[in-house]
Order: sequence, then C-alpha cells, then structure tokens
Amino acid sequence: MKRILTGIRPTGKLHIGHYLGMLEQTVSLQNEFDTFVMIADVQALTDNFERPKSVRENVLEVALDAISSGINPYKSTLFIQSLIPEIAELTVYYSNLVTISRLQQNPTVKTEIAQKRELFKHSVTYGFLGYPISQAADITAFQASVVPVGEDQIPQLEQTREIVRKFNSIYGEALVLPEARVIPNTRVKGLDGDAKMGKSLGNAIFLSDTAENVSGKVSSAITDPAKIRLRDVGNPDVCTVFEYHKLFSENLETIADECRAGDRGCVMCKRDLAQKVNAKLEPIREKRATLEPSEIFEILFEGTNKARTVARETLDVVKQHMHLDYFKAA
Ligand code: TRP
Repeated sequence: MKRILTGIRPTGKLHIGHYLGMLEQTVSLQNEFDTFVMIADVQALTDNFERPKSVRENVLEVALDAISSGINPYKSTLFIQSLIPEIAELTVYYSNLVTISRLQQNPTVKTEIAQKRELFKHSVTYGFLGYPISQAADITAFQASVVPVGEDQIPQLEQTREIVRKFNSIYGEALVLPEARVIPNTRVKGLDGDAKMGKSLGNAIFLSDTAENVSGKVSSAITDPAKIRLRDVGNPDVCTVFEYHKLFSENLETIADECRAGDRGCVMCKRDLAQKVNAKLEPIREKRATLEPSEIFEILFEGTNKARTVARETLDVVKQHMHLDYFKAA
C-alpha cells in the first residue's frame, strides 16, 4: 500500500477551510493509502515559540477536530511531530543540502515572513526560515509517496523533492520521491471578506461551532455593499456569501440570476447558506459528541508509537547511506 502523509499546524481550532481542503481529501484517501496525519507542533512553534501553552492546547483541539471529521484511527495514523525525534535528526542532515538563498526564495516562506513582520521585526529566525527542511523530514521520515496539500504548499513540496533528489544522488537511493496531490478549493475567504479564514475573530466557521453559532456568523457576513434592500439588484461577484455558496450549493446559476435580478434577498440567501453549511457539519458534530478526551489521548499515543517505528526504520537506512552506522556495520 502506498503511503501518504499530511501535516496540520496546531495554531487554532480547525475551520471549514481545513475541512474542505485537507481533511475531506485525506478522509477519502485513507481507504486507498496507508495514511499518516501529523500534528505539526514543532512547525507551529517556529512562529509561535512564545506561546507554547497555546500550541499544546491546540494539539488536542486539532486531534479532536480531525477525528470528528472522519480521520479514522483504524485506517490512519494520527501522531504528534515533537514525539518523533527522528524527524529532527533528519532535518539536521538535510540542512546540508539546502542553501540559505534557496530558502529565502521559497515563495510561501517569503509571503509568510512578510506577514509576520511583527514577530520577525529585524530578521527572521533560523528555525522559521528552515521549516521547509523540517517539512522534507516530515514527509521522507515516512517515505510518503503522495502528499495532499493546498496550493500554498506546492513550493514546500518542490523543496522536498529537491532535497530527496540531492540526497539520493550523493548518498545513494534511499528516499522515496514524493508527489503533491493538489487539493482544489483550499482558499476559503473569511466571512468578513478578509482574504483568509481564521485571521480574525468571527470571520471563521469552526468545525466545533454549534448550528446557532454558524447561523449567527453567516448572518453577519459581508455581502454586496450596494445591495441594501431586499429587491435591490445585487452583484454575486463581489459578495462573500456567494463565494461560500460556490463551496456548498449546487444551484449556483439560479442563485446568481436571482441575485442579479433583485429576486433574492440577502437575509434568505444567508439562511439558505447557513442551512447548507450546517448540513455539512452535522455529522462532524455527531461524531465529536461521542468522543472522550481519554480516547483522543489513546489514539494519539498509539499513532505516535506506530509513527516512531516507521521513522526509526527510515533513519537507520539514511544513516547507513551516510556511513553513519558506526557500530552496526560488520
Ligand atoms: N506546512 C503545512 C501547513 O502549513 C503543514 C505541514 C507540516 C505539512 N508538515 C507537513 C503538510 C508535511 C504536508 C506535509 O499547512
């Protein structure tokens, strides 16, 4: 069975952007692939090193969100990155294979550094600049051949592939060259029209929101500012609610036509959307209600043990190839 690996940074509760992107995809792939889902606490610390308690709390939130969303512990291995020291060790070896200027050119890292000006006022940290190397270690530690990712992660995957090629050419073929499986629809706008969901309070629909919560948030979402009264004509192209209908509704043309003709009031349009979002979230809520914290701990414990066994095997092979197998060779 081919292996896939994906990672989630535990920086907050998961929202519908995560669900429609990575989670839904991984849930459907777990039947065909040996699936590893990593909670990337080490990576989360690269820009949250001052908030270790929050990272810790979010590890459990993310685990609960992932299992509620259908990540099945009988099919998938859910584990915590910091408990796999082999990943850190691989990162050290791989860091010889990547130049600083290459890291600085990584478009995703570049954008993120620009967004984190507050944190990296004078200069970016070594850890943050280098996280794509650690991500290469995440993927290769499990010899994953497929990595389901959003578009923003394509540069990271490309960087991983470069590291793998370089490793294999210098030390001999030891690592599987992974491929990205790019997930469409991973960019979900915030309800307030902000470019990204999760950036500010109230702009995200969390998987743990109640139905009332969701209805309330949707009803305060930004619509076409020129459409004020029920019968005003609207422009769906500038309406955040319509953006969401694209993700949740089948009858898009009807919705757009009615809006343009002034036959669709925003209040009912939002109610319609909230209902569809809630229908999607209901099975997740039902599953969540059956999960006890002790069960989550157990799943993480077992998953981490299993992940560690696999990572250890990879590290052994890597060290053999690097002639670092001192007391093992005959
Ligand atoms: N960087 C990814 C994100 O921000 C998370 C991640 C960490 C990841 N390690 C990974 C994704 C390995 C895929 C494979 O979403």
